[in-house]
Amino acid sequence: MTDHIQEARRILAVNDRGGYTVPTDRLYPFQWNWDSAFVAMGFALYDVDRAYRELERLAEGQWADGMIPHIVFHQPSDTYFPGPSVWRTKHGIPTSGITQPPVFAIALRQVHDAAGEGARERTLALYLAALKWHRWWYAARDPEGTGLVALLHPWESGSDNSPAWDAAMARVPTTTTTPVVRKDIGHVHADMRPRDEDYRRFIHLVDTYADCGWNPAEQWARAPFKVAEIQTTAILLKAGEDLEHLARLLGRTEEAEEIAAFNALSRKAILGQWRPALSRFVSRDLVSGADIEAATQAGFLPLLALDLEAAMASAAVAEMRRWSAGLKVAFPTTKPGLAAYEPKRYWRGPAWGIINWLLIEGLRRNGEGAFAEELRGSTLSAIEREGFAEYFDPETGEGCGGLGFSWTAAAYLWLKRGGR
Ligand code: DGY
Repeated sequence: MTDHIQEARRILAVNDRGGYTVPTDRLYPFQWNWDSAFVAMGFALYDVDRAYRELERLAEGQWADGMIPHIVFHQPSDTYFPGPSVWRTKHGIPTSGITQPPVFAIALRQVHDAAGEGARERTLALYLAALKWHRWWYAARDPEGTGLVALLHPWESGSDNSPAWDAAMARVPTTTTTPVVRKDIGHVHADMRPRDEDYRRFIHLVDTYADCGWNPAEQWARAPFKVAEIQTTAILLKAGEDLEHLARLLGRTEEAEEIAAFNALSRKAILGQWRPALSRFVSRDLVSGADIEAATQAGFLPLLALDLEAAMASAAVAEMRRWSAGLKVAFPTTKPGLAAYEPKRYWRGPAWGIINWLLIEGLRRNGEGAFAEELRGSTLSAIEREGFAEYFDPETGEGCGGLGFSWTAAAYLWLKRGGR
């Protein structure tokens, strides 16, 4: 075992708060949804009981309508804003009121595979939670049955202040009823974080939806930000494939058919978002009706969930190579050279271990193993040089954001063993 593997495991142990893992101390002091799914896959490599616990604790936050929130506030902490009093949600355990990318079922399949048949009951309970969440996605976030699910808040994307949201966010007012008292810039340099104006808009959205009592139909009607998003839909589709696999394994044939229908719908819808002139996929702004052409990593995430024709896959990979040319760490979350590109600022350029993880899976699925290996090597050596930072400046390779980061540790463990 190398020191880096030991260090990754140490970080996951240090960030443990009782069966769940905080992303990092102080900056993110609660349980975050997609962070925990990646962490569970990391644990699945050496402690399958702990892997199940991570998902079980996340499922404690699931709402009666099926939504699994982006944050579960298991214990109080005063190092984070916005805390439970801002969200005004009604679930037993305090939670946020929005969701995050549905990596959960992808993780559950991996955890189940690591555990084997003996863990059927434990898998079944989590499978049912995942199924309820997938149904929620299609009912609450695609009420018109288009196959693309929509986000009502940029934080739901996980790619919080990506340039992909700039045009849609510009329409969101900066007024808030909740005073904005940022804590994040007390932990991390302000140049690496969203700007104050972004935060006012983030909180305007939270205030608006809290005023709807978090009722999905009312939120849908009143949402000033509504984006049918390809990264999230691609993750939902990959998770849907894994969920369908689990349904069949568990003998739940009718549910497997229901999930297969969701998957078929999303597969077709994502394919319809391919833009040959851009060599990538695009999201749609449901308020303006326009394509979102901002050049971000999301445009390539569909590789994770689709088996593309060879010509399409190689066009996408050629474009990915152009974005990566000359960088110390690929893959950039915004195309270098654009006005919106900022190599150190949260989601506006930096490379992230977990995004690379998903892209690597997608590249392999589409027969692009060589570029997948390059990305894997680039990710592992960035971590080995700089440590387990939240993300990396693609030009200098510098580790940025929060340090001792759980999902970077999980990504290291996963990629080090070669991936799937
Ligand atoms: C944040 O950055 O605090 C948001 O909660 C993102 O999840």
